[in-house]
Amino acid sequence: MGITELTPDYRGLIDLKDRHVLVLGGGLGIGRQTCLAAANVGARVSVVDRDPERAAAVADEIDGLALTGDATDRADVERLVAEAVARFGPLHGLADIVGISDNGPLGEVTDELWQRGLDLNLRHVLLALQVGAKAMTEGGSMVFVGSVSGLRSAPHHAVYGAAKAGLVNLVSTASLELGPDIRVNVVAPGQTATPRVAERHPEPDYYDRAAGQVPLGRVGRTSDIASAILFFLTDLSAWITGQTLVVDGGAGRKFAYNL
Ligand SMILES: NC(=O)c1ccc[n+]([C@@H]2O[C@H](COP(=O)([O-])OP(=O)(O)OC[C@H]3O[C@@H](n4cnc5c(N)ncnc54)[C@H](O)[C@@H]3O)[C@@H](O)[C@H]2O)c1
Repeated sequence: MGITELTPDYRGLIDLKDRHVLVLGGGLGIGRQTCLAAANVGARVSVVDRDPERAAAVADEIDGLALTGDATDRADVERLVAEAVARFGPLHGLADIVGISDNGPLGEVTDELWQRGLDLNLRHVLLALQVGAKAMTEGGSMVFVGSVSGLRSAPHHAVYGAAKAGLVNLVSTASLELGPDIRVNVVAPGQTATPRVAERHPEPDYYDRAAGQVPLGRVGRTSDIASAILFFLTDLSAWITGQTLVVDGGAGRKFAYNL
């Protein structure tokens, strides 16, 4: 098979004009910023959140469609995607940002915490892959937000880390089954300043202390993560699937070494 050499117009490759992007967990933090980024380059955006006010506020900002539902519930995901397609047509992009870290010591992980961790960090990935793929009748790209916790280990991250590690493998497997028309990738953030983190760590010097561990000198902004998600949603990444991109300011490059 001959391969035609191409010198693209890169301005067009970062464009999502006339594309429909659905963002699960789009109401706050990284999800909200992903909605703004996709809209900024021309996408029609369906903003899904289980909190109706958050979804409506973001949709208002970008003239998008606000949808309320639970990404961990199969019937809800089917309804949400059907409503989005009815409004904006077939899906071309899907970003699944849903996830939460309920950290605690291994010995205190109850059956309930285990199940909740898997539901909120892994189950919706399967649902999004299955339901999203059916709605991508013109092909498309899906991006899932993992975490550095799914690639390396930290004390008290047992449930979250195991679920996010599962996410990486699930998406990798999906890449083998959904090609050639649908690409799937993972963005794995390091520590990022989101409203949820700020709520959990109100100490004024929290981010400064965290920044000391980061070669690029600061914790992540939600826009840092949204930029990586946007890369995977656009045709700039047309020949990339099944990958995990760590976005952590270089923090994970270090190993313990006693000089
Ligand atoms: N903030 C960090 O430092 C960090 C680091 C690594 C990974 N992550 C990952 O990034 C993602 C986003 O983090 P964030 O801090 O922006 O989250 P967040 O909690 O600020 O926002 C998540 C949004 O998703 C919505 N949501 C939660 N569960 C839902 C469900 N079942 N159905 C529909 N909507 C739901 C929430 O209402 C909220 O609006 C998560 O997957 C998280 O694990 C965050």
